[in-house]
Amino acid sequence: MYLRAAVTSVLLVVVQLGFADCDCSNPVVRKEWRALSNSEKLAYIDAVKCLQFQPSQLGHVYDGARCRFDDFQATHINNTDYIHWVGFFQPLSGGIALSCLNMSQICGAYAAMRGPNLKSDLNRKSFFNDAWHRYWDWTLDVNTEADFPKSPVFDPVYGFGGNGAYINTTLWANISQHVPGKTGGGCISTGPFANMSVNMGPGANSFSYNPRCLTRDFSPWFATRTLNASVVASALRAPDFYEFDRRVEGGVTIDTGTYHSGGHKGVGGDTGEITDLYSSPGEPVFYLHHANIDRLWDLWQRLDWPSRKYDISGPDTAYAYPFNFYGDKPYRNITLDYQMDFQGLLSTDSQIVAIDDVMDIQGGRLCYTYA
Ligand SMILES: *[C@@H]1O[C@H](CO)[C@@H](O)[C@H](O)[C@H]1NC(C)=O
Ligand SMILES: *[C@@H]1O[C@H](CO)[C@@H](O)[C@H](O)[C@H]1NC(C)=O
Ligand SMILES: *[C@@H]1O[C@H](CO)[C@@H](O)[C@H](O)[C@H]1NC(C)=O
Ligand SMILES: *[C@@H]1O[C@H](CO)[C@@H](O)[C@H](O)[C@H]1NC(C)=O
Ligand SMILES: *[C@@H]1O[C@H](CO)[C@@H](O)[C@H](O)[C@H]1NC(C)=O
Ligand SMILES: *[C@@H]1O[C@H](CO)[C@@H](O)[C@H](O)[C@H]1NC(C)=O
Ligand SMILES: *[C@@H]1O[C@H](CO)[C@@H](O)[C@H](O)[C@H]1NC(C)=O
Repeated sequence: MYLRAAVTSVLLVVVQLGFADCDCSNPVVRKEWRALSNSEKLAYIDAVKCLQFQPSQLGHVYDGARCRFDDFQATHINNTDYIHWVGFFQPLSGGIALSCLNMSQICGAYAAMRGPNLKSDLNRKSFFNDAWHRYWDWTLDVNTEADFPKSPVFDPVYGFGGNGAYINTTLWANISQHVPGKTGGGCISTGPFANMSVNMGPGANSFSYNPRCLTRDFSPWFATRTLNASVVASALRAPDFYEFDRRVEGGVTIDTGTYHSGGHKGVGGDTGEITDLYSSPGEPVFYLHHANIDRLWDLWQRLDWPSRKYDISGPDTAYAYPFNFYGDKPYRNITLDYQMDFQGLLSTDSQIVAIDDVMDIQGGRLCYTYA
């Protein structure tokens, strides 16, 4: 650990002197969902399914994890209380990008080996390089409330399927904060994930095997108020990372939620999987939503690249200042050498990712771009 920290500081100095980015002459291009061809969309969906066919590598520590897809959900459940409303919330997406890239490599190999089961993948050249590299620009789907459920992301064939059947949750005592304008709540019944099994959750420490359907509970009302272009523009106007991050993470209430919260509760309402603070990565759309959050951070950085490439701050402790919604807590502000631990999602010799390694999506350990 000490050695790695020392090496990181040396690297940091070198990077600041302007020498050092790794070669990234041919970055993978991450595209918006509707910019993909139909076969690219199906390739992505198959990549997700591939992770759901792969055996879990963490099932020995997380009881309920049955497949590789579940390992992401389990790791998120295990870390939920430490990774939200902290300064490194956005840098985490870089590590997710690293692990997802690796997952797509594994699945590429799997598709090659298991041709009969995933035969179509063999014919899709994009599968190896493009899997996971997609995002959802929700601003395109919230001009009116009626637009939201019609998003191509929810297409029954070339998307993730639609809303769940309506459930009236008004009198449910176990919902701490109702999302106004909810329109669904039950299992999704269309699309390629209609029969998927969400294996863990809901809530904290929910690692035991609890197979359930995937639920959604669209709130077009919340989506139009949190995912629109002016909410994004307001974040992009932030003068420094400290303020930018506050505008992205928002508060914990309905009134103070911004676009991070919007992608969760706009899709998940009261009872959708993606609303669950802990088990939300059980919803495949989670990854497209977070890729867009990552894209907007990159966009903000490139408005003033020389200084924003190195601008990071915020507490190392969840719910500490300025996210002290529940009172003050001791904390330190993070810096570029802060180390994120991706636990079982990356191999043991690479699971520690310094923030400095993910400040530039075309440097350090990352090599992708957004179209
Ligand atoms: C949901 O239930 C509440 C309480 O019973 C009721 O007042 C409300 O009208 C119901 N909403 C809908 C949309 O059915
Ligand atoms: C929440 O309460 C409702 C109504 O009592 C119940 O049907 C539902 O299963 C509960 N959900 C959880 C996660 O406990
Ligand atoms: C889901 O399962 C049901 C019942 O087994 C089946 O009729 C339906 O075709 C399946 N849907 C998908 C999208 O796989
Ligand atoms: C965008 O969101 C803001 C903040 O919720 C809201 O005031 C504004 O009316 C929204 N704009 C549109 C076009 O929905
Ligand atoms: C963390 O940074 C913020 C913003 O610069 C500052 O207001 C706060 O005092 C710092 N906290 C600590 C513990 O250094
Ligand atoms: C779960 O998180 C805790 C706290 O960060 C960590 O000590 C533990 O090793 C994690 N479990 C696994 C299986 O990675
Ligand atoms: C990617 O996955 C393979 C197979 O699980 C593993 O051997 C390799 O170390 C991983 N690479 C990284 C960067 O984690």
